[in-house]
Amino acid sequence: MGQLTAKNAGIVKLGDITVNRLGLGTNRIADNNESRAALKRAVELGINFIDTAAKYGQSEMVIGQTLAPPRGLVAATKGGWSDDNDPASLQSQIDNSLELLRLRQLPLWLLHRIDPKVPIEQTMNFLKSQQAAGKIRHIGLSGVTIDQIEAARSAVDIVAVENHYNLMEREHDDVLEYCTREGIVFIPFFPLRSGSVTLNRRLQEMADKYQSSPIQIAIAWLLKRSPVMLPIPGTLSIEHLEANVAAASIKLEEDDYHYLLGY
Ligand SMILES: NC(=O)c1ccc[n+]([C@@H]2O[C@H](COP(=O)([O-])OP(=O)(O)OC[C@H]3O[C@@H](n4cnc5c(N)ncnc54)[C@H](OP(=O)(O)O)[C@@H]3O)[C@@H](O)[C@H]2O)c1
Repeated sequence: MGQLTAKNAGIVKLGDITVNRLGLGTNRIADNNESRAALKRAVELGINFIDTAAKYGQSEMVIGQTLAPPRGLVAATKGGWSDDNDPASLQSQIDNSLELLRLRQLPLWLLHRIDPKVPIEQTMNFLKSQQAAGKIRHIGLSGVTIDQIEAARSAVDIVAVENHYNLMEREHDDVLEYCTREGIVFIPFFPLRSGSVTLNRRLQEMADKYQSSPIQIAIAWLLKRSPVMLPIPGTLSIEHLEANVAAASIKLEEDDYHYLLGY
């Protein structure tokens, strides 16, 4: 095996920003040494896309403290939930994220959930004003359908979509196909099914064949599934982080990829 680096996963483009196609999920990051060590090791391993959110407790603060100034690093954050897409609330969440992440501009800000009480075009126009003010660079969406993505795109450019997706839970295959066709980065959340993707028998078989672990095969499978796929496995363990980065070097044979797809 060559060098242990996230570069082996290839790259994706978030508008004018290029990142390696294997990131880190941080919803369990807390204010402790274990979390700080995992963040530092991730950057050493070439991970330059870190997924966080206003909702993730101390995550933004710890990322800001540990990794600022964030040279070459995209700390993508999310705000807005299904009951608070009003502009005043979004504004305070964006301002808070800027402060906690110690950034002058958020490279990618994703709407965490659409609030059914607020028309999406209105929310997108508000985000456009945030772009004009220089507070956010690129806009993404999370937990959305194709119709919702299209409605948002009638007002702004959408560079990324973050939906629930892993080998065993593929209810958003239609959104993935759409993103692949349109060149929108697809960030699968719960890419390891919170660790339980290992229960899949076919993954176990492939792990034996490739002398790796079922988790590594699950990551390699996602990477092969689409060129716009940007997995963000979450871990606080350095050992698991290194194993996940090593998965970027596993090249699944076509037959094996389809065998898993047919699960
Ligand atoms: N947009 C949204 O609405 C949304 C919703 C949920 C999550 N997310 C994002 O998606 C990210 C990923 O989701 P997640 O972290 O909840 O779930 P996940 O990535 O599917 O799975 C994480 C679990 O897998 C374990 N794990 C990771 N690497 C491993 C390895 N090599 N070997 C064995 N176990 C391993 C972790 O435990 P260890 O710590 O022990 O490694 C943890 O228990 C989150 O961190 C968050 O950033 C977004």
